[in-house]
Amino acid sequence: KIVPVIMAGGKGTRLWPLSRSGAPKQFLQILSDRSLFQQTLERVSDNRLYEPAIIVTNSDFRFIVAEQARAVHAPLSDILLEPVARNTAPALAAAAFVVLARFGETAIMQVLASDHEIDAGAVYIDCMLRAQQAAEAGELVTFGITPTEPATGYGYIELGEALAAGANRVARFVEKPDRAKAEAMLSTERYLWNSGMFMLPVKAFLDEMQLYAPEVHARTKAAVEGASKDLDFSRLEAKAFAAAPDISVDYAVFEKTARAAVVPSSFAWSDLGSWDAVWKTGRKDADGNVVTDRATVSNTRNSLVLSRDIHLAVQGLDDIAVIASEDAVYVGRLEDSQSVGNIVKLLARAP
Ligand code: GDD
Ligand code: MG
Repeated sequence: KIVPVIMAGGKGTRLWPLSRSGAPKQFLQILSDRSLFQQTLERVSDNRLYEPAIIVTNSDFRFIVAEQARAVHAPLSDILLEPVARNTAPALAAAAFVVLARFGETAIMQVLASDHEIDAGAVYIDCMLRAQQAAEAGELVTFGITPTEPATGYGYIELGEALAAGANRVARFVEKPDRAKAEAMLSTERYLWNSGMFMLPVKAFLDEMQLYAPEVHARTKAAVEGASKDLDFSRLEAKAFAAAPDISVDYAVFEKTARAAVVPSSFAWSDLGSWDAVWKTGRKDADGNVVTDRATVSNTRNSLVLSRDIHLAVQGLDDIAVIASEDAVYVGRLEDSQSVGNIVKLLARAP
């Protein structure tokens, strides 16, 4: 069976004012009564295919993780706590050492980001099974999404030769290119977006980590060996983990390894990274608006109007995002959604 490893330690700020430092994107109930993290747990709940999940997150989020997992009755194997944020390479290396110790060298782990909206129907399952086969053959498997625009927030995967089970070699992996490079890659039609999900033979993954990010490998190994139990949590040893370099797995391993494969994937996938992405996936009224219960719109088109706590009304505006949380309101053009992070920086500096 596949061992699911869910990464839930990111701090995403582009969904302000709903995402806050205490409640980042993955824990929000945006257009659903379940958070993206809870939806992720449900994708690995079939016990014919999956072992109970391992969650790896920041110590700050331990209670929200435990509470949200309990609320959907998700069987968990462990909740690994990072004392400080060091990005996804150390988080995944630590998880891999735990999987290795518990399930042995032949274990396959499926890494899932907790901040995506995915249609986990038959197409998705088929991709997972193909990836499992490729991983069993020793490949570090990525999932490639057909790109729709020269986005700069994703990794780009160049399709190489065909392998078994409907996978391809990764000819090149480019994490978060600038606009010009993204446009150039898109125009060749040979590139896919990296979905942020991986299927990994645990031994091969740790070998590649040791080869290309030896510091990450050594520090996280020590952090797992020195881990201590605290209620339902496993605390990674703080000093060793803090000494690990701050780097994502995309830069640390996938840009460098020659052992990566990609399963071209056509299930519906959205990173929901910004308000325009939320608007795109949301259910629209006849005027193209995505509106929640507490919000009212009139003479307004192609807008996202969200409010859970207070009444919110918008009149006579098009193509905008108006987002109200308990104690803050954001108004901006949908096309400027990528820049919400700048506002958050300004607010952090405000008295
Ligand atoms: N445990 C833990 N610790 N989890 C983390 C940490 C950390 O320090 N940092 C981020 N995460 C979690 C996030 O919560 C998210 O679920 C996942 O790891 C990915 O991190 P992001 O910070 O959201 O990465 P990204 O979106 O910029 O880029 C990744 O995903 C893209 C697709 O959405 C990359 O893999 C890209 O190549 C990919 O295209
Ligand atoms: Mg992300």
